[in-house]
Amino acid sequence: MAVKVVFVLCLLLWQLYVVPCAGQEPVDLSAFQPQSALTDMEFVSVSSYRGPGNTDTRRNKELPILLWWSGNLFPHFPGDTERVDCARSSCLVTRNRKVQLHRRTTSIIFYGTDFRAYEAPLPRLAHQTWALFHEESPMNNYLLSHGPGIRLFNYTATFRRESDYPLTLQWLPSLNYLLQPTSVSLEEKNSWRKAGLAPVLYMQSHCDVPSDRDRYVRELMKYIQVDSYGKCLNNKPLPDYLEDTSTATGEDQRFMSFVARYKFHLALENGLCPDYMTEKLWRPMHQGCVPIYKGSSSVGDWLPNKHSAILLDDFASPQELAKFIMDLDNDDSRYLQYLEYKTPSKITNLRLLEGLQNREWGINDMSKPNYLNGFECFVCDRENERLTAEKKHRREPDKYPEPQTKMANNTHMGCPLPSPAYGVIEEIDPNDGWLQMWPQDYWQSLDQAKGLVSLIHHNESDPGRLWQHIHRMAVNRNSQ
Ligand SMILES: *[C@@H]1O[C@H](CO)[C@@H](O)[C@H](O)[C@H]1NC(C)=O
Ligand SMILES: *[C@@H]1O[C@H](CO)[C@@H](O)[C@H](O)[C@H]1NC(C)=O
Ligand SMILES: *[C@@H]1O[C@H](CO)[C@@H](O)[C@H](O)[C@H]1NC(C)=O
Repeated sequence: MAVKVVFVLCLLLWQLYVVPCAGQEPVDLSAFQPQSALTDMEFVSVSSYRGPGNTDTRRNKELPILLWWSGNLFPHFPGDTERVDCARSSCLVTRNRKVQLHRRTTSIIFYGTDFRAYEAPLPRLAHQTWALFHEESPMNNYLLSHGPGIRLFNYTATFRRESDYPLTLQWLPSLNYLLQPTSVSLEEKNSWRKAGLAPVLYMQSHCDVPSDRDRYVRELMKYIQVDSYGKCLNNKPLPDYLEDTSTATGEDQRFMSFVARYKFHLALENGLCPDYMTEKLWRPMHQGCVPIYKGSSSVGDWLPNKHSAILLDDFASPQELAKFIMDLDNDDSRYLQYLEYKTPSKITNLRLLEGLQNREWGINDMSKPNYLNGFECFVCDRENERLTAEKKHRREPDKYPEPQTKMANNTHMGCPLPSPAYGVIEEIDPNDGWLQMWPQDYWQSLDQAKGLVSLIHHNESDPGRLWQHIHRMAVNRNSQ
């Protein structure tokens, strides 16, 4: 996705840019003067789309401001500030952090992957809401998986269906993507099998991830032949023409033809969370291969029908899974049942069909907004509604009740503590890479979430004091 490429490119610049901003200096409150913070902002006058319900005629200077704290994701170009005319109302959006404390800055938008407690915009002002955009893996920031972390946000766009602006099917471009005819017929796949190709493909170069997938696959390999091409558990070289790793990903045609020869693809996400599903699931289905999947525990809610993927969680052990796959490998008619969804009438899951139809954002679809602009407008319309309701309440408190507060909760992310994919944690070698990394990372993220809550509670203006707050909490904990 273009957004991700830009994100990676910006990461280096971003770090250079953030370091000076995140120093120990107290926040400059002179920026809190009306207009002063806005003087060196460029106002691009754009005649952007105005939704049919948008009758907002206010000038730029009167609009609420939404600040993209994660400036590298600012979904406008060029310029740092734009007016957006959304479905029902308009806002100014900017990535200029000088407006952080401005009275018109009503909401701050964060990208989950680079949200850091020690760089949070403080003091947190009572008139400002926080909005979280996080479509990437839960492993990128476990702070958001803890109650105290996620409850800092008022609006969310995450992979979970319970989020305010759900991105659950973000990796599935369209229904046609699923319906694409099988690229290698079963007959051909069977002759590849006879020629020595394994039934199962594994291709993974990102090892030691929270889902601990390699530990499971290593065990599975004892019972069934797996061709493994990536850096993790490699047992086969890639052909020369694919060795360039930039080719061996994504939708490159030669890559696709190479992997489509396999009947089964191990499709294991790097982090586990309800509704977190990526191209690892949808791409084999696009090609007409059967995914052996683990990632979202509720994946069954989104599959085209009841038999379109093999779910790891349905098997008591890797050995049982291996036996199931071998049986299926030898039974053509049962194997073909797994591809029945290629016929539209066999897609019986209404949640999937409606989810694809009703989402307002598109993927590679110029007629629809992308989800960054979509979420930005979602926040803009909600903020204008809130401001209007608050104004009415101030004028006529008897007639209009105070608007209800809105806060995210653990159903908006809430990914579980990483646990071993096979075996029990007590029996894992203390030097194991996974063990040394992930359970700790998860609990340290909870400390950081609580530390940030404490900073906000104490109305601190320097996020760098996070470590003192965490330290104090630890001391209190130990003295109890
Ligand atoms: C936003 O969330 C915070 C909690 O993190 C809460 O204190 C505040 O009242 C919420 N704001 C609105 C407008 O609901
Ligand atoms: C969590 O938030 C959702 C709204 O996003 C709400 O419907 C639900 O009741 C909340 N759950 C809890 C336990 O507060
Ligand atoms: C929080 O601190 C800021 C300055 O850092 C101050 O202007 C504001 O009044 C404080 N708010 C509360 C509730 O103490």
